[in-house]
Amino acid sequence: MVLIKAAICGAGGGIGQPLSLLTAQNPHIGEVSLFDVVPSVHGVAADLSHLDGTAVVKGYTKENDGLKHALTGANVVIIPAGVPRKPGMTRDDLFKINASICRDLATGIADYAPDAIVGVVSNPVNSTVPVFVETLKAKGVFNARKVFGVTTLDIVRSSKFVAEVLGKPNEAPQYTIPVIGGHSGKTIIPVISQSQPKVDISGDKLNTLVNRIQFGGDEVVKAKDGAGSATLSMAYAGSKFLNAVVSSVYADKPSVIQAYVYLPELPGGDAIKNDIGKDVSYFSVSLQLGKSGVEKVLPVGPLSDYEKGLLQEALPELDASIVKGVGFGKSSL
Ligand code: NAI
Repeated sequence: MVLIKAAICGAGGGIGQPLSLLTAQNPHIGEVSLFDVVPSVHGVAADLSHLDGTAVVKGYTKENDGLKHALTGANVVIIPAGVPRKPGMTRDDLFKINASICRDLATGIADYAPDAIVGVVSNPVNSTVPVFVETLKAKGVFNARKVFGVTTLDIVRSSKFVAEVLGKPNEAPQYTIPVIGGHSGKTIIPVISQSQPKVDISGDKLNTLVNRIQFGGDEVVKAKDGAGSATLSMAYAGSKFLNAVVSSVYADKPSVIQAYVYLPELPGGDAIKNDIGKDVSYFSVSLQLGKSGVEKVLPVGPLSDYEKGLLQEALPELDASIVKGVGFGKSSL
């Protein structure tokens, strides 16, 4: 296969650096461009350029048309740019700063990499993805098959925490648990009833488990005590996302992932409102990936009564976050 180009925007940060390290190890990637507003990104690029993998690694800041050079020709762009949470903050508190960053980067993608697959990591994902979508729409280059909010960390946490509850932490990779909804607190809905292999967890144990998955990020924010939020586990999750997308789109290996997408313009997207009983424009759901990006939105599948309850709790918050992101995206153009 032809080697592709990946760009990481926010590559000098806590997530960006390890994500760039992992991206540079993907054998399908021939070039990784690292973009950040801080000059230290050049050091990160110099460091990673010595790896003996297939990828050539280059660093860019805003100087000398850096964003243009970083994005031109990129097949995949991952965005961990922006501020992370501090103790006591919700993801929503980040919106003011990160929404503008996302709008500016989306404008750059529209101008220099309009066909790229985009993975938005910057929080609050429930709102920043709508900012991306509205910006790309306004520039006339939006393709719903190619824009994703990265929710993989919720899936990674689900596998690990379920395995821990079962007293088998070493067996985490064996548990596949779909996570639907959004990427923030109560909007994160782990569908434990669809776990593969099946698990039997109920009552208080289930409540505690679900709460831990929904608020797992807070454990890290608290433990880092002011020094940021999850970075290494997010880089690991971001790399899983990127590897699945690259293999599906460029290496003829279709896969199923869950990510937060814009439903109205996706095949199968319309059916989700029947599955969840509400017409939402954005939702994290299972996606069949193939050569064109999202080939099909897959049904939510049967939910337990408990999970239906989680869904009812999630929808108002999700709705409000979407309205906020769409409003910002439309008004600031
Ligand atoms: P960080 O502060 O360590 O790194 C962010 C980087 O973005 C910095 O290097 C900064 O200079 C850069 N940046 C700021 N403005 C930029 C711009 N306009 N263009 C390019 N780069 C820019 O933060 P960290 O910990 O890496 O987190 C990044 C984002 O990811 C935060 O919004 C955080 O909330 C989010 N996050 C998302 C998760 C998810 O599951 N989707 C999980 C954990 C964090």
